[in-house]
Amino acid sequence: MRTQWMLQLQERLWGLAPWDAQKISDEWFRAHFHYAADVVNHWVGSVVDMPHAKLFNFGCGDGITDLSLVLRHGATRIHGVDIRQEYAKLPRIAREQLGMSRIPSALTFETILPGTPLAGRHSNFDAIMSWSTFEHVQRDQLAPILRDLHGCLRSGGYFFIQIEPLFYSPFGSHLRRYDDKPWHHLLASEDELWGVVQSHEGPIDAAEVDFGFADFGVDGYKRFVFKEYLALNRLTSDELVELAVAAGFSVARQERRNVEMEVPSALRDRYPQEWLLNNEIFLLLRKE
Ligand SMILES: C[S@@+](CC[C@H](N)C(=O)[O-])C[C@H]1O[C@@H](n2cnc3c(N)ncnc32)[C@H](O)[C@@H]1O
Repeated sequence: MRTQWMLQLQERLWGLAPWDAQKISDEWFRAHFHYAADVVNHWVGSVVDMPHAKLFNFGCGDGITDLSLVLRHGATRIHGVDIRQEYAKLPRIAREQLGMSRIPSALTFETILPGTPLAGRHSNFDAIMSWSTFEHVQRDQLAPILRDLHGCLRSGGYFFIQIEPLFYSPFGSHLRRYDDKPWHHLLASEDELWGVVQSHEGPIDAAEVDFGFADFGVDGYKRFVFKEYLALNRLTSDELVELAVAAGFSVARQERRNVEMEVPSALRDRYPQEWLLNNEIFLLLRKE
């Protein structure tokens, strides 16, 4: 990735590089560039002034959502952190999907070790966002990370968290691209599930194939996705809200989405119905 000062200089001289959303051919890109960015903008843009806000993305992944927030929603400063370095692909992805020759200097990224305290180096953010990330954070790191992110915000700042699918919901394993049977992860053994994933043949839903797929190959991606499943922290909406409040946040707004599906009788007595049907949470937190 080019150094930040070079990008800033080029932008000062020539403005933002031209881009064209008509060129988008990748479904993963489309889902983040349009849907995810629009939802984040809907929640965060309703409480902060996007063009003037200093934004932080916890678990930014490949940075496509951040790119869209700048190009389509007027954000001017977003710092993304992640334990992986998928964002390093963003210049290539933006070239391929938007015909954009350089990514905006508004975007900066950083690789961190899981649980690295950030508040000492990063503070006074107007808003933090975290999309499809909190279900992946190691359970014992949830409380310290939430406290640390609280410290990264200015007083009166907001934190928007989205999780989908939640673990106990029909496809909460994140394995749907290989296994379409609802709640299979709560019904089958680990070996059975791995067998289903391993024996899967044919294409997988393009909207679920991230830009890491090419690095892993077909079998490597199966191993990666299954390992991710095993590492899920199994957070429920109530637990997330409880942890956030314990970390010092107040709840500004939340929306929980449920599926309308028949719960298998084998699960009815094992888990609360609300866990089994709640597949998504949008949570807007505030630092008082
Ligand atoms: C499903 S991906 C979502 C990425 C991105 N938000 C998106 O929408 O494409 C989950 C991300 O969380 C990151 N992640 C997991 N644990 C983390 C942690 N402790 N700190 C920061 N990022 C983490 C992963 O590396 C991964 O990029």
